[in-house]
Amino acid sequence: MEIRSDGFKKEEIYKLITGCVVPRPIAWVSSLNENGSVNLAPFSTFTFVSSFPPMLGFNVGRRLDRPKDTTRNILDIGDYVVHIADESMLDDMHKSSFAYPPGVSEAEVLGLQTVASTIVRTPRLAAAPISMECRLTSITDFSGNGDGFVVGEVLMFHVRDDLLDGMKIDSNKLRPVSRLAGENYAYLGEIVSMSTSSNGPPPNR
Ligand SMILES: Cc1cc2nc3c(=O)[nH]c(=O)nc-3n(C[C@H](O)[C@H](O)[C@H](O)COP(=O)(O)O)c2cc1C
Repeated sequence: MEIRSDGFKKEEIYKLITGCVVPRPIAWVSSLNENGSVNLAPFSTFTFVSSFPPMLGFNVGRRLDRPKDTTRNILDIGDYVVHIADESMLDDMHKSSFAYPPGVSEAEVLGLQTVASTIVRTPRLAAAPISMECRLTSITDFSGNGDGFVVGEVLMFHVRDDLLDGMKIDSNKLRPVSRLAGENYAYLGEIVSMSTSSNGPPPNR
């Protein structure tokens, strides 16, 4: 079937594109509210945009009446932390997406412990297997609708010791969760290794 993208409403195209681009990794982002509490929200429009320097990007949509707390906080403070949630954190991660009023800390509401970050002002989640302290580089509105694609440089990685072999992270131990269409998530299935040439092992990437 051919589906012309200009013949549909915003919600319909959202459904389509979030069903096409799967599975999506999830940036679980802490940011600092004006009152000093820790805001937490997940974003699955997430990737890295550069590995050296390490830079992450995710897109934050705009609410009808105001920006999301994450965008406002990041613009105010200039830093934030991106966490990777594992399977045990799915419920909390999902619940942190509920729309609480500005200034309410999802971390507090959900009883999630935070600790001071090493470099940035925004605290990080104590229990996350991976936390990446980021400094804001840019926010770009690609849609022209008030969305913001947030890009920041990772200044500090925190990786749980048992996940690391040198600089390699064992995905099987990490057990990350990903987002599918609608309210659906997926865990890792079978991992398949492929070599990139006929005579060599897979490169270290
Ligand atoms: C798994 C998941 C992924 C999400 N991804 C996005 C996203 O990429 N962009 C976005 O604007 N909202 C996304 N949302 C919705 C936000 O998390 C939600 O609007 C949240 O309340 C924003 O919080 P804030 O106002 O504290 O920033 C996602 C929700 C879930 C559950």
